[in-house]
Amino acid sequence: MTKPNESDLIRIILVDDIVETRETIKKMLAFEADFKVIGSAGNGREGVELAIKEKPDIVMMDINMPDMDGLEAASHITKSVPTTGVIMMSVQDDADYMQRAMLAGARFFLPKPVNMDQLYNTIRTVYDQYKPIRDRMKQLEDQVGTFEAIVQEEKATSGDRAGHVIAVYSPQGGSGSTMIATSLASGLMKDGAKTLLIDCDLQYGDVATTLAIKPQTTVFELTENENDLDYEYFDSVLATHDSGIKVLAAPPRPNFGAELRDIRPESIANVIQQVAGYYDFIILDLSKSIDAVTASLLEIASKIVLITLPTLQSIKNTKLVLDLFDQTGFDAEKTVLVINRAVESPSKNQKGLIIAPNRIQNFLKRPVEGIIPIVDEMLILKAFYDGVPVIASSRDMSKSPMKQLTQLSDHLYATLMGIEELDIDDDQPQEKRSSWLPFGR
Ligand SMILES: Nc1ncnc2c1ncn2[C@@H]1O[C@H](COP(=O)(O)OP(=O)(O)OP(=O)(O)O)[C@@H](O)[C@H]1O
Ligand SMILES: [Mg+2]
Repeated sequence: MTKPNESDLIRIILVDDIVETRETIKKMLAFEADFKVIGSAGNGREGVELAIKEKPDIVMMDINMPDMDGLEAASHITKSVPTTGVIMMSVQDDADYMQRAMLAGARFFLPKPVNMDQLYNTIRTVYDQYKPIRDRMKQLEDQVGTFEAIVQEEKATSGDRAGHVIAVYSPQGGSGSTMIATSLASGLMKDGAKTLLIDCDLQYGDVATTLAIKPQTTVFELTENENDLDYEYFDSVLATHDSGIKVLAAPPRPNFGAELRDIRPESIANVIQQVAGYYDFIILDLSKSIDAVTASLLEIASKIVLITLPTLQSIKNTKLVLDLFDQTGFDAEKTVLVINRAVESPSKNQKGLIIAPNRIQNFLKRPVEGIIPIVDEMLILKAFYDGVPVIASSRDMSKSPMKQLTQLSDHLYATLMGIEELDIDDDQPQEKRSSWLPFGR
């Protein structure tokens, strides 16, 4: 007989507590080229473990064994490995034993001592009986393989990054939205996170100027073929700031004409949703007017950083916006309230004009999650002039507003990435801090 292929061999496991019996059967099986003994075990429990691991074609099983007898072991194996045929062997060959062996799922009962020809015939017969089951299992495995490949492929084509969309919004012009949005894009770019900053103020967007970049492509061009968007192309036409932030700029001039009217209000939101999976954070610098474009972007955002100034007018507008968000059905957790140009303790002559953060929080009945103090305006204008996000404009991170912008960015990172926050502000005693800095409610 010519030697069969490895895949055509009948793979056999022997389970018997008597070593000599195992050895004898093994020797007998060695005479036949189509048999291969791939392992043996001295009790039922080991036999089950081995069978589950190796998935043999045949298990030759003794009945009387310590630590799980052959009947129980056969029952486990036939349930766990449907392609394995169990052949029972026993010196007791009465009808009762045979019946119990069959009930346990065994295919055949061989009386001991085992007769060579009977052994060979039985193994080949049982192996043939299992052919349809083996074929069916093979088919299923192939299908599962294909299914897994499809899932992998889908994952690869839709990106595997976190895709958090953070909208930075203020109902008040000049509140520092662009300063904060550019700083967040920079601050969130840690631990290998990929951030994309999109200027969604289609009329007066100034992200490109603020970061001193000259974009080749703007939101407009990309929304033109919004339904046939290719990520590789999308990413390749983005501008890249020196720091590594990817930027999608607004059109360079205010555009009241046909172009702006042609763009479907939901187009930008649609484009963002298609590419979100390729970035960890997408930061949107929104226009102050709540038009259809802004509304659709607020809708798709996972977090809205809502900026208020500490003035009565701004707080009143912020209140209106918070009410609107409530009516729209936004979860309260979606909004991250931030005070910019904050003054911790307004002086006497500021009284009534500048409102302290704790009073703002009480009035708005929302936790304030970020407080950016008012600083020398030159510091911010200088950063804008240099094209550097304010957060990255000084090496000294203990300085305002770099410190508070970093805290806000870390807070967002931790909240969205599900990481517990460290108490980084360790230069102020806890009690004092909690009275005015409501981080970590
Ligand atoms: N914390 C701060 N302290 C002092 N000045 C600030 C602070 N934040 C912002 N500013 C000043 O406010 C001005 C407006 O900032 P920014 O352009 O970021 O606001 P914006 O909300 O994007 O404005 P716009 O409505 O024009 O888009 C900047 O020129 C900056 O100098
Ligand atoms: Mg702006």
